[in-house]
Amino acid sequence: MTVRAVVRGVGHYLPERVVPNAEFEDSLDTSDEWIRARTGIEQRHFAAEGETTSDLAVHAANSALRNAGLEASEIDAIILATSTADLTFPSAATMVQSELGMANGFAFDVQAVCAGFVFALANANALIISGQANRVMVIGAETFSRIMDWNDRTTCVLFGDGAGALILEAQNGAGSTDDRGILSTDLNSDGRYRDILYVDGGVSTQSTGFLRMQGKEVFRHAVEKLAKTARTAVEKAGLTTDDIDLIVPHQANLRIIKSTTQKLGHSMDDVVVTVQNHGNTSAASIPLALSVAQGEGRTSEGDLLVTEAIGGGLAWGAVVLRW
Ligand code: ACO
Repeated sequence: MTVRAVVRGVGHYLPERVVPNAEFEDSLDTSDEWIRARTGIEQRHFAAEGETTSDLAVHAANSALRNAGLEASEIDAIILATSTADLTFPSAATMVQSELGMANGFAFDVQAVCAGFVFALANANALIISGQANRVMVIGAETFSRIMDWNDRTTCVLFGDGAGALILEAQNGAGSTDDRGILSTDLNSDGRYRDILYVDGGVSTQSTGFLRMQGKEVFRHAVEKLAKTARTAVEKAGLTTDDIDLIVPHQANLRIIKSTTQKLGHSMDDVVVTVQNHGNTSAASIPLALSVAQGEGRTSEGDLLVTEAIGGGLAWGAVVLRW
């Protein structure tokens, strides 16, 4: 018998305010046409004034609990992936824990920028298979609108705010590739690339800073590294890319998604795409896409899913799981 981390529920939350591309045309030398053609993005959501990352995360967590038919008291741990936590400390995860009314268990944040949710999933899997937790709430939540330089058209049109959550539960499997749950993970980072995607501020520099990105360079790394990590994760599971039923990629740019999908030998029919509606929500993009996919009836029990993401660090990775 093998313990597996099986998906028990999923949920998401998007702030009320929807910002179409055209809104940027008033203040920047840009156009709806350019943004759509170069990124696939049509709109994004921005958090209201005073609405924080943990606020979004609590909504997503409650949505996942409803979907799973569970109470917060039945969760052992919360892992929250974010680069835009409310405060320097405590972690946004502990804020969510208290808002959910959980007096039990433990909670912590993971920071791997846009790859954060994949890193958090791998951590949750490790906690479950090592017997340290039975049920883990994995959340990706971001308010990237707070770190945008509104004068920089090369970055501020790309990002959005939102949150998604997934509940993983320990279940016994046969130890075969037919088991439900996480079958493999592949994590990578290379700090030599820190200068191509970063925020030019932080606690130690006593400023919040703004996101800075060499888009072309990040694009080049994304196309090369995403297909590779997805392939590696599938091989680690003892499967091939032909076995994949659904690809749930980090939603940064439709052109990156298309090119990665092609490299994996799949058609876009096998891919969940939400970037047109959400923009790049960093660590929130994969759980948001998973929740939307489930809501549209695109996930069936037994399907083989692959998620892959890359972000600042650079940090990148993939998770293979059977729904
Ligand atoms: N509107 C109009 N023109 C623009 C805009 C805009 N919003 N942004 C850039 N341009 C201009 C540039 O200034 C440039 O003009 P120039 O030729 O006169 O210099 C021209 O458009 C082409 O710019 P490029 O940067 O070459 O455009 P590219 O096709 O590479 O698209 C983009 C830019 C969308 C940023 C792309 O490179 C990209 O998606 N990169 C990857 C981003 C990503 O995946 N990030 C994921 C990780 S995010 C994280 O971890 C937080």
